[in-house]
Amino acid sequence: MMRGKDVLEVACARGGGARYLAEVAGPRSYVATDYLESNLEICRRTHSPLENLEFRLVDASEIGDIFPAASFDFVLCVQAVTHFQDARKFVFGASQVLRPGGGLLMCDTFQRDKLQASPLRRGVRAGGRRDGRHQPSGARRGPLPHAVGSPRPRGAAGAAAAAARPQASGASAVAVGLSYLRLVLRKPTAP
Ligand SMILES: C[S@@+](CC[C@H](N)C(=O)[O-])C[C@H]1O[C@@H](n2cnc3c(N)ncnc32)[C@H](O)[C@@H]1O
Repeated sequence: MMRGKDVLEVACARGGGARYLAEVAGPRSYVATDYLESNLEICRRTHSPLENLEFRLVDASEIGDIFPAASFDFVLCVQAVTHFQDARKFVFGASQVLRPGGGLLMCDTFQRDKLQASPLRRGVRAGGRRDGRHQPSGARRGPLPHAVGSPRPRGAAGAAAAAARPQASGASAVAVGLSYLRLVLRKPTAP
C-alpha cells in the first residue's frame, strides 16, 4: 500500500513503527514527527539510518503550516490523536498536506461520550454502532454518506470533513465507555 509513496507519520514517539514501515513497506519517503525533542533524540539514537526515513520535530497542529500542500500520499497517526490539544487543526492540516486520493489513517481509543462532540464523530457514526456494541472491523467500505441526523461540521472541521471522506472505519468496544476506533479517510480526487 505504501510502496513508492510519500508518508507522513504524526506523533511517532520512539519511532519503532516508523523504522519498521520505512524499511518493510517500501515508501519513497517516510517523515516521522513528534512534538517532543526527547522522543526524536531516542529515534535518532536507536534506529539505524535509512535513506528514505527522516525524523522531525513537529507539533501535530502545525503540519499544514510546515509541510507543502499536497506533498504526501498518506498521513498516519497511531494512538495519539486523543493526546492532541487541537485535533481539528491536525485533521485540517492532514487534508491540506495530502495529495488528492491520499489517505489519513488513524487509530486510537476514544471515550464514546466525548467522541460524540468531536470532529471524528462522523466516522464513528458511519462505521460503528450508535449503541456502542461491537461491530466487526472493516464494517463499511467505500465512500460513506454524511451521517443521517447529525449536524454537518462547520469551520475547519467542516473543511476537513469535506476534503477527507471516511473510506473505512470500525469501532470495537474495549471497555465500558471506550471504543477502539480505526479510521481511513480518503481525500477526494476532484474538489
Ligand atoms: C501514546 S504515544 C503513541 C506513539 C506512537 N504513535 C505509538 O503508537 O507508539 C502518543 C505520542 O503523541 C505525541 N504527541 C502528543 N501530542 C502531540 C502533538 N501535539 N504533536 C505531536 N505529537 C504529539 C507524544 O509525544 C507521544 O509520542
